Amino acid sequence: MSPDQTLEPARVASGNSRKLFVKSYGCQMNVYDASRMADLLAPEGYDETTVPDDADLIILNTCHIRELASEKVFSELGKLRLLKAARQSEGKPPVRIVVAGCVAQAEGEEILRRQKAVDLVVGPQTYHRLPDLLRRVEGKPGLVDTDFPAEDKFDHLVAPSPEKTAVRGVSAFVTVQEGCDKFCSFCVVPYTRGAEVSRPVEAVLAEIKGLVAAGVREVTLIGQNVNAYHGFDAATGASASLATLIARVAALPEHVRIRYTTSHPNDMGADLIAAHSDVVALMPFLHLPVQAGSDRILAAMNRRHTARDYLDLVASIRAARPDIALSSDFITGFPGETDADFEATLALVEEVGFASAFSFKYSPRPGTPGADRSDQVPEDVKALRLAKLQVMLEDQRQAFNRATVGRVLPVLFEKPGRHAGQIAGKSPYLQAVHVEGPNVLIGRVVPVEILEAGPNSLHGRLIPGQDATGSRDWEQDIRGLDAAVVEASV
Ligand code: 5AD
Ligand code: SF4
Repeated sequence: MSPDQTLEPARVASGNSRKLFVKSYGCQMNVYDASRMADLLAPEGYDETTVPDDADLIILNTCHIRELASEKVFSELGKLRLLKAARQSEGKPPVRIVVAGCVAQAEGEEILRRQKAVDLVVGPQTYHRLPDLLRRVEGKPGLVDTDFPAEDKFDHLVAPSPEKTAVRGVSAFVTVQEGCDKFCSFCVVPYTRGAEVSRPVEAVLAEIKGLVAAGVREVTLIGQNVNAYHGFDAATGASASLATLIARVAALPEHVRIRYTTSHPNDMGADLIAAHSDVVALMPFLHLPVQAGSDRILAAMNRRHTARDYLDLVASIRAARPDIALSSDFITGFPGETDADFEATLALVEEVGFASAFSFKYSPRPGTPGADRSDQVPEDVKALRLAKLQVMLEDQRQAFNRATVGRVLPVLFEKPGRHAGQIAGKSPYLQAVHVEGPNVLIGRVVPVEILEAGPNSLHGRLIPGQDATGSRDWEQDIRGLDAAVVEASV
């Protein structure tokens, strides 16, 4: 998911009297947090709305990763100030405005200074206190709560509500790890999200069981550095690796497809690589950011691996799971990047062949070592390199999609398609797939023959006689098909 993406709020109503509008920016961690804020505020009498004008409470769940993402918040707040003023002059009930997420954490008081309409600023580690904080700002706006708490926020969050989960869809994020100790020299995350913390195995399993009971069929285990996961495992009395956690999720009687994101190359342990060959429910897709292909730039970025290390890692992962689809993040124009360094990035891309990728111009972030360097790359050079890289990545994406034409893939159907009589879902490789088919298959994994690759989605047909009626156990389907998929791709 693009970290600059603006995300739709969930649409859930349960007859509460007050209305909540949450707008989330940025990464999957924010998507998860936004859902949990809504869960937390439901017992306080808030229903979610998709219309800010109807809301009694508006939360902007913000992203600080690049300057553009941060500045979007202040322009959005400008619009909300006008909304607040209009409400007041019309004698309507007041609307309260909360800034949450990483801009809240990084800017704190500065937000109140720049935009007086804001009632409350709350960081990603303290949003579990929202009900109490909202009571405190009643009649006395202008509170900032961004201290990293001693307590574990997850212990204070209510479990995801079954009704809301059912409406949110059949794929869900589950935060298993937060924060980052890596300190890449371009990145604000270690400062805004704090040190690495992992949730205990049992807490993760309990959350997944609840999600599955509410209709979820695929979980993505998420964390800023998810493969650095080391949560406490009551079964062994020691900490578990991400591979162990995946094995425990796969062993649940509630069958779910499993994904995880985002990973750091240095934390791809041998057991995690082996999981890609051993765990049937683990989808053959891996988002593994490399950022750049020049060893000089990787060192300056404090990535602590070389391009060769990354290529060797990719080879090991492909040996474990030959059909795995790889995705990555790239930054162009990190300080000091020369044309030759950039060519090394293109060479790495050429060698790996990515199924998808996100790429960005370097954005100097206050407080990070990269921002202080005197050898910043001019904007036009960054932009030109980005454009060149994106052409190559897009060609690879299209080639990957075309290569799935003719194959039979187990597709998890998620929602009705854009056209009547169609349903839409995701392939194991996270490609959007649509077919002509009945809505009753939403929430099921069904074999689909891929017929065509469009620019943004695949078109296929349900395989007659195999589970199109929804009568067969999905697990049987996916087991049989995964073997076929692997065979076909070797
Ligand atoms: N400038 C540009 N891109 C950045 N990212 C993180 N920090 C910056 C920055 N300062 C990108 C990285 C990371 C992704 C989430 O965002 O590629 O993997
Ligand atoms: Fe940021 Fe690097 Fe940590 Fe990823 S690993 S969150 S890029 S500091």
